[in-house]
Amino acid sequence: MATEQTALITLFGATGDLASRKLYPALFNLYKKGEIKEHFALIGTGRREWDDDKFRSVVSDSVKGAADSDQQVSDFASHFYYKSHDVTNPEHYKVLKGVADQLDAKYDLKGNRIFYISLAPRFFSLVANNLKQQNVFSDNGFNRLIIEKPFGHDFESAQELNDSLSSAFDEDQVFRIDHYLGKEMVQNIAALRFGNPMIESVWNNKFIDNVQVTLAENMGVGERAGYYDTSGALRDMVQNHIMQILSLLAMDEPNKYKDVEIRAQKVKALQSLHIYDEDEVAKNFVRGQYGANGDQKDYRHEDNVPEDSNTETFVAGKLEFQNNRWAGVPFYVRTGKLLADKFARIDVVFKKPALDDFARANGTAPQLLPSVLTIKIEPDSGFEMQLNKKHVGQGYTTDSFKFTHDLTDSEMKEVPLPYERLINDAMKGDHTNFASWAEVAQAWKFVDQIEKFWNSKKADFPNYTPGTMGPKAAEELLTRSGRNWAFRAED
Ligand SMILES: NC(=O)c1ccc[n+]([C@@H]2O[C@H](COP(=O)([O-])OP(=O)(O)OC[C@H]3O[C@@H](n4cnc5c(N)ncnc54)[C@H](OP(=O)(O)O)[C@@H]3O)[C@@H](O)[C@H]2O)c1
Repeated sequence: MATEQTALITLFGATGDLASRKLYPALFNLYKKGEIKEHFALIGTGRREWDDDKFRSVVSDSVKGAADSDQQVSDFASHFYYKSHDVTNPEHYKVLKGVADQLDAKYDLKGNRIFYISLAPRFFSLVANNLKQQNVFSDNGFNRLIIEKPFGHDFESAQELNDSLSSAFDEDQVFRIDHYLGKEMVQNIAALRFGNPMIESVWNNKFIDNVQVTLAENMGVGERAGYYDTSGALRDMVQNHIMQILSLLAMDEPNKYKDVEIRAQKVKALQSLHIYDEDEVAKNFVRGQYGANGDQKDYRHEDNVPEDSNTETFVAGKLEFQNNRWAGVPFYVRTGKLLADKFARIDVVFKKPALDDFARANGTAPQLLPSVLTIKIEPDSGFEMQLNKKHVGQGYTTDSFKFTHDLTDSEMKEVPLPYERLINDAMKGDHTNFASWAEVAQAWKFVDQIEKFWNSKKADFPNYTPGTMGPKAAEELLTRSGRNWAFRAED
């Protein structure tokens, strides 16, 4: 049952790519489902000299493919207003304040205000502080900030940004977007673990051999090359999305399934991550950069990429949580561009029996495979469990089989878009699926050590072929301890 939310959203970056590709479709879905209805309005801003009609036509174009009727689109778009605004000009915020007050009265918005900053990161703190200084906040209702990624480029810059935001917004008013936390199967991690004592009772180093997280992309850097070259795979994917997934996999059960308690457990897990010194980085982290293949240029010859770029388009690593639950269990992660396929999955690899008695009885090589629980995030969404069984027929050898549960097509249609879920959560004031400052800070402390070491050495790039699963060293990260990636390109 939808509960109508009451809020005014002021969107900075309303003329941008993210807004039309993700934010308007997400808001439209909320509108169709009745999560936002009469008591909702949005002020879009950008420097462009658009008027309300132009803005509404852009918004309509971005949602009409999902509409039931033209009327539905125009009703939705009628809640959108545009104000040309330069975020560097303090005077412009006063105009915004006036429009906000008018819309508040018109739509009976009860002073509930969300400020969504979808701008280049250099503007994040400038906007937040101007909102405060120019008093764009309401005195009744809530004033909340939704902020896009990246949140800093290292611990120091993230802390600076956070300190600056803190002078305008308290932590419980800040919603840091990590769209992976809005994905159905990432949200399923907790349900699978804490909803099934059978699973949670083996979720530790007695039964689990290793955990693997793979977020693979099969495209190159494309038009994002300029930005990507200043970031690289470690900052773009590991510091945020992968660290968030790891914290959900590694955390202890919260006392209550509520945002404050969940975040506290995630922070506790991240604080137990062993932060590597230089030698440990060299041993446990692998970087890669794609080479050329057919028509595909190598990374260093992509547009807007320097020919001597040291930026990694691939990273694989082994992480260790130093606590009693996880001591001795490696958590392997990998992500990259131009890999064999586009998918995201988690593989939890369980221990095998110490001795393969079936093989011993037959005098054959060991045959038992580890049991593997796979959480498929995308493109398929579901679970898989690989187990051993007796091989059909005479004798007593073994082979493996899989239990599979995929979300059905009709379930997939019900799955909210990640931004739809996150914007709705922010309107409800639920922080569960947003990264807290303590989580972000801990993730940067871990990642900074790797960056520091990598920056001190020129990499031997390119070192992987497009269409593979990255450099050979990413395989060796596991094979040196007798392990393998559960997903292999040839599977
Ligand atoms: N696009 C994505 O897929 C994606 C994915 C994840 C995260 N993000 C994050 O989302 C944010 C927005 O990204 P984007 O791709 O939408 O960027 P974009 O397409 O380059 O849009 C930037 C927006 O900033 C506005 N802008 C720039 N300078 C301004 C100024 N001085 N005053 C007021 N507005 C100004 C632009 O409006 P005018 O040109 O009209 O001034 C435009 O609306 C970034 O933080 C990005 O990292 C984007």
